[in-house]
Amino acid sequence: MKKYAAILLAGMMALSLAACGGSSSASSAKEDAAPAEAEAVTEEAEAEAGEAVTTEAAAAETAAELTTVSEGELHMATNAQFPPYEMTSDGEGYATDAAGDVHFEGIDVEVAAKIAEKLGLKLVIDDMEFSSVIISVQSGKADMAMAGLTVTEERKQNVDFTDSYATGVQVVIVPEDSDIATVDDLANDKMIGCQDGTTGFIYCEAPVEEGGYGKEHVNGYPNGAMAIEALKAGKVDAVVIDNEPAKQFVAANEGLKILDTEYIVENYAIGISKDNPALCEAVNNALNELIADGTVKQIVDKYINAGE
Ligand code: ARG
Repeated sequence: MKKYAAILLAGMMALSLAACGGSSSASSAKEDAAPAEAEAVTEEAEAEAGEAVTTEAAAAETAAELTTVSEGELHMATNAQFPPYEMTSDGEGYATDAAGDVHFEGIDVEVAAKIAEKLGLKLVIDDMEFSSVIISVQSGKADMAMAGLTVTEERKQNVDFTDSYATGVQVVIVPEDSDIATVDDLANDKMIGCQDGTTGFIYCEAPVEEGGYGKEHVNGYPNGAMAIEALKAGKVDAVVIDNEPAKQFVAANEGLKILDTEYIVENYAIGISKDNPALCEAVNNALNELIADGTVKQIVDKYINAGE
């Protein structure tokens, strides 16, 4: 896993330079800019952000210029079993499914709602299995995949990504009395549980030569909660999953702990159809405004305890 992590990290760094498929977009120029220039760009983005919220007409104009799968709506493909990024809500939440029956909340849902507002669109949540979110965008059923979705070289072949708005870390959850103390111990003929289609699953089931543990040592589950159930039932020896959901699962279940060991760090971004570069640009610009004016940080702090 260690070796693999280094390769992945090198890949991620190259990836972080280009948003929305292009290397010459304004947003990537921003990232390349020297600190002084970057500051100026931030101020500009802040000014833009102010304008965007105060001018409703401007938002309506943006919406008219954008093509989305359903007019006036922004459909977000996600798997809402990934707290604190996306989950169903007992209250009003920040968006609903198409029928208006199910309410959703979480970091991604709130950030998406703010993006939709800036674009003059209504956010609609399309809740599905995680392994379907990219396909759904690729096949034109949803406008954007936002699901604590890690940017990888392979996924970049299928969708364009915005700039990153958060980092995720793959961690290992084990029972408190486990003899697994490091990621290397996972190689000792252990069974690992993961959510199907996730990067954790992909790393773990990779052949040993590539830093994984081999397919025969990994069980995939439709969601993280089911992987945790399997761990509690002794069907797997460990669960590999992103750190923030991991913390929530460990807090909600007795007798589990997160290993303090070598981790893989990833970038989360929004995936958008390669056939809709205008939407990618618009979503990316809105996202960058929300990062620049502190809205994203405010939302993250609300769900993830500050000062940890
Ligand atoms: N970050 C991981 C990945 O992109 C896991 C994401 C799972 N997200 C979810 N909403 N269930 O593969």
